[in-house]
Amino acid sequence: MKHSNLIPFGCVIGLVAGSAVFAYAPPVLADGVTAAETYAIVRGGKLYDKWYTLSGGGRPKGTHKAWPKSNTKKKGATTHHCKSCHGWDYMGKDGAYGSGSYKTGIPGIGAYAGANIAKITAVLGNAIHELAGKMPEKDMGALALFVSKGQVDMRKYIDYGTKKPMGDANKGGAYYASVCSNCHGRDGKKPKDMKSFGKQMGNPWEVMHKILNGHPGEDMPAMRVVGPQMAADTMTYMMTLPK
Ligand code: HEC
Ligand code: HEC
Repeated sequence: MKHSNLIPFGCVIGLVAGSAVFAYAPPVLADGVTAAETYAIVRGGKLYDKWYTLSGGGRPKGTHKAWPKSNTKKKGATTHHCKSCHGWDYMGKDGAYGSGSYKTGIPGIGAYAGANIAKITAVLGNAIHELAGKMPEKDMGALALFVSKGQVDMRKYIDYGTKKPMGDANKGGAYYASVCSNCHGRDGKKPKDMKSFGKQMGNPWEVMHKILNGHPGEDMPAMRVVGPQMAADTMTYMMTLPK
C-alpha cells in the first residue's frame, strides 16, 4: 500500500473529456481496494476490536460459550470480542495470545484471509459465533471484508521476542506530530482515561490494530490507507514517549 498506487482517474477523465469516449471507474486506493471497501474494512476492524460498541444489541451478558474453561483469568463481555479469541495479530494460539491472560488455544483467522465474503459470514453465523440476526447484515459484511482483506502480518512489523516495533522513529515522530498529537497530546497521555502510550506499548499488537482501524466509538482516524509500515514507524516513536 503505497501512495504510488493511487491512480489519478481525474487526469484520465480530463484527457478523454474532449472525445466521444466517456469512461468512469471508481478510484482505486491501494491493492485494488476501493473507497467504499475501505469504509467497510475499517468499520470491520473496529467491530473486530469490540463489535457491541458499534453494533448488535448491546453488551453481551455472561462469558462466551466458546471461551475455554481452562482460562479462568477472563470472563464476561471481554470474552466476546473477536480479538480475545483470535488475537490482535489475528494469529490466535500461534501469535501473541499463545501465552498470557488471553491464552485460549483457539486458532487464528489467517486461513480466511482472501476468502469469499459469504463463506466468512457463514462462519460468523455458525453455532460457535451465533451473530446472524444479532448483528445487522451490513456489519456482518464489513466484519467479513475485514477478515478477508484487512489482516496484516504483524510479524513483519513487531519483534515477537522483544515486543519492539520495527520502524523508523524519525518518520514516526513526524506522523505522530502531524496526526496523533492533535488528540493525544505531545506526551501521549490524552484524551479521557488513556493510559500513557509508553505503557500502551506493552501491547504493540493492539496499538497496531488501532492505528490501522481506529478506536470503536471514537473519531480517531484509521491510518490503514497509509500502510502498516506507517504504524510501525509511529509505534517506534511512541516507545520514546514518557511512561
Ligand atoms: C470465545 C471465543 C471466540 C470468539 C469471541 C470469536 N471466535 Fe471465531 N472461532 C472460535 C472458535 C473456537 C473457532 C473454531 C476454530 C476451529 O475450527 O478449531 C472460530 C473460528 C473462526 C473463524 C474460522 C477460522 C478457521 O480457520 O477455521 C473465523 C474467520 C472467525 N472465527 C472469526 C471470528 C470473528 C470475526 C469474531 C468476532 C465477531 C470471532 N471469530 C469471535 C472462537 C471464537
Ligand atoms: C480525532 C482524535 C484522535 C486522533 C487524531 C488519534 N486518536 Fe487515538 N484515540 C482517540 C480517542 C478519543 C481514543 C479513546 C481514548 C479512551 O477511550 O480513553 C483513542 C484511543 C487510542 C488508542 C487506544 C487506547 C486504549 O486505551 O485502548 C491508541 C493506541 C491510539 N488511540 C493511538 C493513536 C495514534 C498512534 C494516533 C495517530 C496515528 C491516534 N491515536 C490518533 C482519538 C484520536
